Amino acid sequence: ARLEDKESEQATVSPATMTKVEDFLLPFRLSPEKLREVSSKLRKDLIRGLGKHTHRRAPVKMLPTFVRDTPDGTENGDFLALDLGGTNFRVLHVRVEESLQKVLKMDAQVCAIPQEMMEGPGEELFDHIAACLAEFLESLELKDKVLPLGFTFSFPCEQKDIDKSILIRWTKGFACSGVEGHDVVQLLREAIKRRGDYDIGSVAMVNDTVGTMMNCAYQDQSCEIGLIIGTGTNACYMEEMRHVKRVEGDEGRMCINTEWGGFGDDGSLRDVQTEFDVEVDRSSINPGVHTFEKMISGMYLGEVARLVLIEMTKKNLLFGGEMSEALSTPDSFETRFISDIEEESTGLEHALQILTEDLGLPATPEDCELVRLVCNTLSTRSAQLCGAALAAVANRIRNNRGLNHFTTTVGVEGTVYTKHPHYSDRLEETVKALAPKCNINFIVTDDGSGKGAAMVTAVAQRLAIPSTL
Ligand code: GLC
Repeated sequence: ARLEDKESEQATVSPATMTKVEDFLLPFRLSPEKLREVSSKLRKDLIRGLGKHTHRRAPVKMLPTFVRDTPDGTENGDFLALDLGGTNFRVLHVRVEESLQKVLKMDAQVCAIPQEMMEGPGEELFDHIAACLAEFLESLELKDKVLPLGFTFSFPCEQKDIDKSILIRWTKGFACSGVEGHDVVQLLREAIKRRGDYDIGSVAMVNDTVGTMMNCAYQDQSCEIGLIIGTGTNACYMEEMRHVKRVEGDEGRMCINTEWGGFGDDGSLRDVQTEFDVEVDRSSINPGVHTFEKMISGMYLGEVARLVLIEMTKKNLLFGGEMSEALSTPDSFETRFISDIEEESTGLEHALQILTEDLGLPATPEDCELVRLVCNTLSTRSAQLCGAALAAVANRIRNNRGLNHFTTTVGVEGTVYTKHPHYSDRLEETVKALAPKCNINFIVTDDGSGKGAAMVTAVAQRLAIPSTL
């Protein structure tokens, strides 16, 4: 009886309207076959990205990271970490304590990066970074210490070594001039030199996926995949060196930063993209770049939703056909609204509040339900696409090792994954269906970009010191 009550409480949308809305949302629904196809396309693109000759034109870059090992627990010491690539820039002081088997975040400071700086000259950006670090060291009285530094720089980089990393292209709203094609470590060192009031030790360049994997691997040795679903989306994993054709040597493994955000940039996902995805890409700062990411991650999900809501309003399926100025303003429908609106018990209340107060729309309870359906549709598609991609990576590792069954751990970070009430379940469900021989555990790690960067630096130091015989 209770269930019936609940159903009748929610059944405010008429069946006729519901049918129209369902039809409208159909292009966003991916069948199990379609997801299988996406996964198998990515499987092929992983191979293209790794190949010596196919790499150059591959949409999924498969970048060597020069991280050759996960932590073994003997790592030790004090490190600085920089983190650029999400919504904020951070400086951190991190301690890896062997005796406690712990990574401790000693101090951290957030520095804002003004919008103009994200699109201005690169030199100004690096001067700003160097200044933030100076202020941080000053406040901790660490200016005369020369500490090793892990730099989490979460953009696609062609790494020549752990401390030489050339930016291929900006993603996620950054567009500073004079950085693409340049070594980021050198730009940082030059900015510090221009100041001349402090110095840093050895530098390790780290993608956020790699930091996340290494941070997770310190707690769980079987962690060999790092996954980010935040502002952007990406994954890294441990690949056999014999398959990493662009780095010499066949022995052992190396972590590969897949940069799967670029999946589809050669048009391979055209049949999955909707007109709304095409529009979000077209009006973005980097059209044609990171097609897959634009269907999945936090920087874009809200914007896709906004365009859908506008079109539904125009079709008189929402808000009595009435638009508001806020809704017609780009980025006004924030991705976090999706998580709020899909919250089990409070979601509809949130919807009403967001639609009327934040967006100035004349929303009825029916509208709230329909908007919730839109959110559900878009976040489900995002989770399923990510799941299909992760399945391709897990299947690849299993094949590499010639295993029938494979158990592994994925370290995950990012607000889309962590803040959404159902995202992780939907993602796991998809991975299970598409990688049935892989048993995957997910661990949400805390601050891979900070602690993980220190861990990468610590492991690099351990490997650089030849073990005494
Ligand atoms: C973007 C970046 C990638 C990063 C990801 C998650 O896709 O290109 O390097 O890992 O965002 O932050």
